[in-house]
Amino acid sequence: GKQGFEHFMLKEIYEQGDVIERILNHYLDINGRQLNTGLQPGQSAAIEALNIVACGTSYYAACTARYWLESIAGIPTDTDLASEFRYRNRPMSSHTSNLFISQSGETADTLAALRYAKAIGCPCLSMNNVPTSTMALESDTILPTLAGPEIGVASTKAFMAQLTVLLLLSIDCARHNGSMDFDQELSLIKALHELPSLFHRQLLTQEPIIRLAQMMATSDHALFIGRGQAWPLAQEGALKLKEISYIHAEAYAAGELKHGPIALVDEQMPVVVIAPPDELQPKTLSNLREVASRGGKIILIADSQAIEASSEFITAAIPMPQVDPVLFPLLYTLPLQLLAYHVAKEKGLDIDKPRNLAKSVTVE
Ligand code: F6R
Repeated sequence: GKQGFEHFMLKEIYEQGDVIERILNHYLDINGRQLNTGLQPGQSAAIEALNIVACGTSYYAACTARYWLESIAGIPTDTDLASEFRYRNRPMSSHTSNLFISQSGETADTLAALRYAKAIGCPCLSMNNVPTSTMALESDTILPTLAGPEIGVASTKAFMAQLTVLLLLSIDCARHNGSMDFDQELSLIKALHELPSLFHRQLLTQEPIIRLAQMMATSDHALFIGRGQAWPLAQEGALKLKEISYIHAEAYAAGELKHGPIALVDEQMPVVVIAPPDELQPKTLSNLREVASRGGKIILIADSQAIEASSEFITAAIPMPQVDPVLFPLLYTLPLQLLAYHVAKEKGLDIDKPRNLAKSVTVE
């Protein structure tokens, strides 16, 4: 049941801290020190390049993880939508490692992509939330996401679980190919262990998000922008908003704005700017000023310092606590989910069962 929550989606958002803990308990060995992804050490060391294939929210998890795999583990990573991957005759040898991400493990396009890669003889990993799913059964190696059953049609805790396991996979590959030392690994694992309590505190301070949701509920459109890992997060935030609130939301890499989309900006346009304090933040904040000078209503999700520094340009802000920069994607996902949730709630919509959508898409 919903255990007192008004919707499954909200319950599942609240469960995310526990999900991260469950994943850490599963993937760390008995001493809580060494990671065990279920990949043989030789297997993770042997991943020279990775191809990740998925649909929807799972695809955005893949796009976020690309930055970890490349920057932490030095593994060149491609991401593909399953419905495109299958038909574009990508040159692949039997040495290309592929990872298929699917919460349900039943998504028709992702399953077909897995079968396509298997037929070529490629090593196939899959990341699923349903251990008995068709994809789990047909893969060489399974990385379970352990989020527990997800009832809300809009994926929340499964996305968080995918991100967490993808980060652990990146760390595991980095250790085995020598790009990360043991101290760095320990400090990341420690920061991950502290994340659930940060989530808990964020969930206690939803007031700014609720006020913001009341403002956004009357909009017909919204833009989401970010750079680096904040770009796929912007895409995920826009997807969440459109699927449950039916507001037309688009995401852009912040640097792309002036190549066209900025023409959309006027006084009616809310622009959600995701700007964690990383080395790209100054650039994102300068894009923010460009949008502000066109009249856009800026909503800034960032650390308090950046919010302070941009105060004259913004309409609203969601202040975020400090955390190891590697973990920004996990932390900054939370306000995006809550924003979509509260906007849909404000509009009185059927949050757990949005129109036209099914929990698992078993047709192509
Ligand atoms: C969005 C959502 C969908 C799924 C997509 C893939 O909230 O839930 O975009 O992510 O249909 O589903 P899986 O991961 O089951 O393959």
